[in-house]
Amino acid sequence: MMKKISSFVDYFQQYHESVTDPEGYWAKIAETFNWHKKWDKVLDWNFKEPKINWFINGKLNITENIFERNLPARKDQVALIWEPNDPKGKEIKLTYGELFEKVCQFANALKKSGIKKGDRVAIYLPMVPELPISMLACARIGAVHSIVFAGFSATSLSDRINDSKCNMVITADGLFRGNKNVHLKSIVDEALLSCDSVEHVVVLKRTGDPIEMKAGRDIWWSDFIAGVSTVNKAEVMDSEDTLFILYTSGSTGKPKGVLHTVGGYMVFAEYTFLNVFQYNEGDIYWCTADIGWVTGHTYIVYGPLLAGGTSIMFEGIPTYPDPGRFWEVVDKYKVNQFYTAPTAIRALIAQGDEWVRSKDLSSLKVLGSVGEPINEEAWRWYHDLVGKGKCPIVDTWWQTETGGILITPLAGITPTKPSFATLPLPGVQPVIVDNEGKVLEGNNVQGNLCIKFPWPGMIRTTYGDHERCRINYFSTYRNLYFTGDGAKRDEEGYYRILGRVDDVINVSGHRIGTAEVEDAINQHPKVVESAVVGYPHEIKGSGIYAYVTCDALSEDEARTIEKEITDLVSKIIGPIAKPDKIQLVAGLPKTRSGKIMRRILRKIGEGDATSLGDTSTLLDPGVVEDIIRGAKVDVKR
Ligand code: WT7
Repeated sequence: MMKKISSFVDYFQQYHESVTDPEGYWAKIAETFNWHKKWDKVLDWNFKEPKINWFINGKLNITENIFERNLPARKDQVALIWEPNDPKGKEIKLTYGELFEKVCQFANALKKSGIKKGDRVAIYLPMVPELPISMLACARIGAVHSIVFAGFSATSLSDRINDSKCNMVITADGLFRGNKNVHLKSIVDEALLSCDSVEHVVVLKRTGDPIEMKAGRDIWWSDFIAGVSTVNKAEVMDSEDTLFILYTSGSTGKPKGVLHTVGGYMVFAEYTFLNVFQYNEGDIYWCTADIGWVTGHTYIVYGPLLAGGTSIMFEGIPTYPDPGRFWEVVDKYKVNQFYTAPTAIRALIAQGDEWVRSKDLSSLKVLGSVGEPINEEAWRWYHDLVGKGKCPIVDTWWQTETGGILITPLAGITPTKPSFATLPLPGVQPVIVDNEGKVLEGNNVQGNLCIKFPWPGMIRTTYGDHERCRINYFSTYRNLYFTGDGAKRDEEGYYRILGRVDDVINVSGHRIGTAEVEDAINQHPKVVESAVVGYPHEIKGSGIYAYVTCDALSEDEARTIEKEITDLVSKIIGPIAKPDKIQLVAGLPKTRSGKIMRRILRKIGEGDATSLGDTSTLLDPGVVEDIIRGAKVDVKR
């Protein structure tokens, strides 16, 4: 195991070193991994193109660093614990030895079916052990995994498959989530009607529901691996070969495929995991995310397994069969580090304290938070009731694009402060800029959060469209990576993340692009146009508020249109993007040049019309009055 940062003084020393000699700093950390060939140069970069190359010409395989490096010492140590949706179901524990065999066998099966280095494989699976198994099998042979969260619709799935021309889809007949049973395979069948690149579909049996298997295309998981050897030699990869693509929403257009490469991501995943959570030999660690999101990629699978840890993956939801489930699982496995999202905490607060009090949580040492700003009330509840006042909370700020955590307390080392992500990790150089791009020096400043120097886990490109990557992240402010978040640095130099400053809404810790939701709504035949904004939502953090103009509607149509719009968004994107509020309006506030003034709609959605700013440039100021009158919230004037 690499050496962890051990004290606050050590943190400042390492931070200093990482800024004055970044290449030396990261080289020392990278040395702790197994390389077939060491790098020639640590870093080559510019944020103009951008070009970001780490550990240049280094040769390695990330799965050899999970398995061969950790074996034989950990052969019989549990690597993965799987807790099923149904608490009466049987858990699965896979040791490093067992997981290795399963990964090798699936890797061999992939190769046998014709998948080779560089091919893209879409994985659309529930939270079952076969998800990390297939993911690591891809990494083993150098295939690029593109995991799609199993809550996304057929359209979202086919968009992602087509964007990166995946050759294969790995899925299941269905999934269990709470008391829901989703027919995944039929979603895949529908998606594939519009995908030409997919040759084979591997289908895992999970629910046992009847499904259709298309001859020549579809094969059961069990048949796919039948008789296949469990011994596999890893593909030797270059540091900058692609490890995976993960699609995420931005302010414009369709979701983009954020691309991460092998070497830098590997180094950053283990480094951040060990340091942030202060994971120790033998600890039981649980991140409640879904592997379909980046949190699951880095902090259920890669980080913990590289570090030789024991990682729990959970198939279910926090409130099934009752709101005590999280704490029951913590008690059952004696979890030491627990990592979840503020939205889950808020949902559980609403269910009362008894669900927590009745469980033995004495094993907990560290609590983590991720995905959105954690409000003070949720922080206190988490800290006082769940952590009994003795567990530090690591409020970890990062993004799909950053690959791993960038700003966070180190557990037990950095003094915490509710709703502050506190300080950057070594190697991370944040700056706050004003809207003109002027860097705001010193403390007590607020503005747009950027990073001015590369870190190993950062995005390399957006799949198939490097220019989009440049425009999205590197063109707003010269020579800076722009995060899309607002932040403040307080008098102590602590960072507080204020949320998105672009047209992205953070709903329950998930990124939803307003443009995507509008495009979906606009596909309704009666809809003329729409504008979508976020508004404060007690549980979700932000809810989705859609203002919609329609053709003349009959009484019957008017009664059903809101439900039709909701269903349509669910069908086109997925249930997570469903608007919470739909307001039919006569017109949208537009400038004379035809631009929708979202600022005004956001204010109204927040219930505050006292500071709408200058509305004189509006084409028709009257529409604002109408919208306020019909708003689905009491609007203060
Ligand atoms: C956006 C990234 C990174 C894992 C999950 C989300 C918001 C994330 C925090 C935090 C305040 C946070 C930001 C960021 N966010 N963590 N601790 N405090 N905001 O990944 O889907 O790529 O979303 O989530 O707005 O930009 P993602």
